[in-house]
Amino acid sequence: MTNEKNILEITNLKKHFGEKKVLQGVDLKIPEKKVFGFVGKNGAGKTTTMKCILGLLEADEGEILVNGEKVTYGDTKTNRFIGYLPDVPEYYSYMNPKEYLSFCGEITGMEKKTIKSRSEELLELVGLGSEKHRIKGFSRGMKQRLGIAQALLNSPRLLICDEPTSALDPVGRKEILDILVAAKNETTILFSTHILSDVEHICDDMALLHAGKIIMQGSITEVKEKRRGNTLELQLENPEENAMLLNRFTKVTDMSGSAIESTGSNTLLIKDELMVPDILRFLADHNIRFIKMEKQEATLEDIFIEAIQN
Ligand SMILES: Nc1ncnc2c1ncn2[C@@H]1O[C@H](COP(=O)(O)OP(=O)(O)OP(=O)(O)O)[C@@H](O)[C@H]1O
Ligand SMILES: [Mg+2]
Repeated sequence: MTNEKNILEITNLKKHFGEKKVLQGVDLKIPEKKVFGFVGKNGAGKTTTMKCILGLLEADEGEILVNGEKVTYGDTKTNRFIGYLPDVPEYYSYMNPKEYLSFCGEITGMEKKTIKSRSEELLELVGLGSEKHRIKGFSRGMKQRLGIAQALLNSPRLLICDEPTSALDPVGRKEILDILVAAKNETTILFSTHILSDVEHICDDMALLHAGKIIMQGSITEVKEKRRGNTLELQLENPEENAMLLNRFTKVTDMSGSAIESTGSNTLLIKDELMVPDILRFLADHNIRFIKMEKQEATLEDIFIEAIQN
């Protein structure tokens, strides 16, 4: 084992389909007991990477270690450490949640007693504890929650969820995110998504897959810190005085045309922090009062867009 703290280590993973080189040397290390966001746009190769980790797809090159053991294509031995929620899970819709988990436990050779206690615990965790109805009538959110319970059944060291929130409304998404955070006590979670705000809310670490490689990786704070921009936001007490600054400084703009939505329309942007002393002097000389002047925090969304455009 190269590093005891990493539940997953991927080195130089390559995979192509025909002419298409999907993975071109992916390196990824995931420490234990983290929620890890695996980000990339549609077709980036997230599902492909996950299927390689599960030994369901044969890699062209590279090495994958799960809990220190090498993954071999077609041999599912390392999958005893893994729970998997596929992007489009299939269910036996005539079963109710408890029957479904029993069935899953039985086919993986779990003991009846363990299945029973573990099912009860997990159905409680995913909010389906008292659900007696058949899966047939379940909403998408309910199905995803059941899918997480199923993936956690054998107490995996690594839980892999492929876009668990993508098809859900905000309420359903929040339910899933809360469950993932709760599951962090017992496992490491690797989940793929293109919803950056989900990553921002619940992940400790993230990696961005683009053009076949991981082009950004680290804790959310590290990633944001690295991209901290040169722009400040300035809000005047009296917005009618905005024009004075706009006329005087070319590096001051208003929010129109900006992609940032979170700030109010009265906020000005200072595009170059070196201008701050001059601007402060101007404000003092003209007796203009301001409510706030602060460094603009880039959202993951901004960082993501910027990174994949380079
Ligand atoms: N079995 C396959 N045969 C041929 N091409 C494939 C196969 N599986 C995936 N691909 C191609 O590989 C690329 C990566 O697909 P993949 O499903 O891994 O992307 P993804 O990041 O999971 O995307 P999404 O966000 O849409 O789920 C895509 O261009 C896809 O068309
Ligand atoms: Mg996918």
